[in-house]
Amino acid sequence: MTTVSGSMKSMVNSSKGLLDRSIYTDEAIYAQELEQIFGRMWLFVGHESQVKKPNDFVANYMGEDPILVTRDAKGKLHTFLNMCRHRGNRICRADAGNAPSFMCTYHGWTFATDGKLVGVPGYKEAYFEELDRSQWGLVEARTDSYKGLIFATWDQKAPSLLDYLGDATWYMDLVVDRRDGGAELITGAHRWPFPCNWKFGAENFGGDNHHVPISHGSVGAANINRRTTTGQMSTDATRFNVHTGNGHCIIGGYTGSDLNVQMLASTQDAKPYFEANIPELRERLGSQRAKQVSMGIATIFPNFTWFGFSGCMIRNWHPKGPGKTELWTYCIVDAKAPPEVREAIRRRLTLCFSPSGTFEQDDGNNFFQSTKSGNYHEGRKYPMNIQMGMNRETKSELIPGTLSPNVSENNARFFYDRWSEVMDAPSWDGIHIDPKTR
Ligand code: FES
Ligand SMILES: [Fe+2]
Repeated sequence: MTTVSGSMKSMVNSSKGLLDRSIYTDEAIYAQELEQIFGRMWLFVGHESQVKKPNDFVANYMGEDPILVTRDAKGKLHTFLNMCRHRGNRICRADAGNAPSFMCTYHGWTFATDGKLVGVPGYKEAYFEELDRSQWGLVEARTDSYKGLIFATWDQKAPSLLDYLGDATWYMDLVVDRRDGGAELITGAHRWPFPCNWKFGAENFGGDNHHVPISHGSVGAANINRRTTTGQMSTDATRFNVHTGNGHCIIGGYTGSDLNVQMLASTQDAKPYFEANIPELRERLGSQRAKQVSMGIATIFPNFTWFGFSGCMIRNWHPKGPGKTELWTYCIVDAKAPPEVREAIRRRLTLCFSPSGTFEQDDGNNFFQSTKSGNYHEGRKYPMNIQMGMNRETKSELIPGTLSPNVSENNARFFYDRWSEVMDAPSWDGIHIDPKTR
């Protein structure tokens, strides 16, 4: 592993709101991220609706490593490195499917969906039965799920998934626990390259409200998103961002009005459905949470982003190098949502957040140019500014987390503080966990 000399804390000065821009471009820092962040955090790897039946599988990535999520013949979930233990070939080239085993196309080693090595050509004639097959199964990550969302980590010392998510689950429930039966994906992943550092998108969706009327002004002008008005920056004091601890950052909301319906109203075709289900939501999650709080736009540290308006988009910012990201975006809805609602949500999210998404075009070039500044010979000598709204954090009896103004960079500071803590810590023993309170 390439290691970086010096502490990452020196690159993230949150008390002054300064950020060393080389964190986006430095090769050694990126290598350390793969080790310290993507090698240790709980990462979103798929949804149970993708692997409903025994022997279902779906492919994904953890960091740059290809993985397979499987449901074995007995129904247990697993996450495996998609790597043959013989010479490293991928054991599965398909994106998803159902198969009792995976035969490597190089020399034919074959692995069951529980990871066991079950077939070795030449086992008798060439290996003389001396190969201990029990030692050469697939490399497995710890796997757990939260209300259908599957996460995995390579680190056996990582806390439980519930402890890792902490109070973020209180907000996540507003998408995954709205109705009896939970939620499910209605699409495979849209996947496309984004020429930026993965942190730009992850942090932006966790708290950057102030870019919306500027970056997405043309979307507002075209009235594609009825919630965006060109040039106007809403600093409504009843709205907020929230950091729920452990680096998880949410652009939430608390307005005293029927917030959930307001948000969902931006998909007019689906509005009657969401309105009709407010009573069930209220019964499941309580009146206050159902009406006044949202899992608006959020990032579960490090790279799992949500866009909770109009149904929900979820995505991974997969790292592919310091200046390269691959976006994997899915659409998640109530499992009980009828076809016309699914279609309305799918169309809406494709219009806004997909390879051809209007918002995506705006964001992409800004993230790209900002990432590049970390390589400017002169420019990299000057820090980035994340000073907006410093020392304006508050707490509320009503909702968990640390609140900050709706238009601020508090969540960016929380995100990069967590990033530097995880980057510096030699093991999970040195990483603090904010306790779950709800
Ligand atoms: S690399 Fe897979 S069987 Fe040889
Ligand atoms: Fe944006």
